[in-house]
Amino acid sequence: MNKTLLISGASRGIGYQTALKLANDGHHVIATARSKDKLNELAKAAKKGKIIPVVADLTEVAGIKRIANAAEDYDQIHGLVNNAGAVHRGPFMETDLSTWQHLMDVNLYAAVRLIKALKPKLKEGSHILNISSMSGYQGSLKFGGLTAYGAAKAAIAGLTEVLSAEFAEEKISINCLAIGAVQTEMLENAFPGFEAPVSPEQMGSYIADFVLDAHQFYNGKILPVALNDPD
Ligand SMILES: NC(=O)c1ccc[n+]([C@@H]2O[C@H](COP(=O)([O-])OP(=O)(O)OC[C@H]3O[C@@H](n4cnc5c(N)ncnc54)[C@H](OP(=O)(O)O)[C@@H]3O)[C@@H](O)[C@H]2O)c1
Repeated sequence: MNKTLLISGASRGIGYQTALKLANDGHHVIATARSKDKLNELAKAAKKGKIIPVVADLTEVAGIKRIANAAEDYDQIHGLVNNAGAVHRGPFMETDLSTWQHLMDVNLYAAVRLIKALKPKLKEGSHILNISSMSGYQGSLKFGGLTAYGAAKAAIAGLTEVLSAEFAEEKISINCLAIGAVQTEMLENAFPGFEAPVSPEQMGSYIADFVLDAHQFYNGKILPVALNDPD
């Protein structure tokens, strides 16, 4: 059965590859980000299914409204992948509050806004998938300089567990993947020269399959997806 999914942060990196894989598997994908040209490239790259590009800044009310309007064309959003994210690397004492607020806005509140806006389209069998990071996964090896990012990623993991209790009665599932290093622009900006063991194509393919199927087996779970030992 063809499904309808919404992927945030679909203009590049992991989100782009997740959206492309889902479309090429025949699904309808509402693909959102701020970069219009890159979303249009994504729409052209899809060989099957359908990409519906929606240009939106997830920190703005108008952007969230545009996404909700696009979802109006569909009876149900079967999968929502909260993938959009932003990173900052710098010492804690030099990271000002506006940077903290921006990282919370993009990595946490954007997901909160999207879930609230799309709730009427999230029904029995829908799967919300939050993309977190090993930086925010309890007990994993931590790297200095990622306090705001790690805290925001831990917060979205916490949101996942608590919201799953609230949505369970309606049979809406919510899970969180705490992913390890993937070779994207974000990683290159934060850790220049670091070579990740996983490509965005590989991770996008994994996430696409996970959002379609894994809620048959998991709910309210925060799962590490990393090759390194969390300890
Ligand atoms: N790469 C890694 O090693 C790694 C590791 C752990 C977790 N993650 C997580 O995986 C997710 C994807 O990461 P990535 O590496 O693919 O990052 P990326 O290449 O930097 O892509 C980030 C995406 O988020 C979108 N975005 C950023 N700010 C936005 C805003 N205000 N409104 C709407 N969209 C916004 C960007 O699109 P526009 O700029 O066009 O808006 C872009 O599509 C993120 O949540 C990240 O934290 C990545």
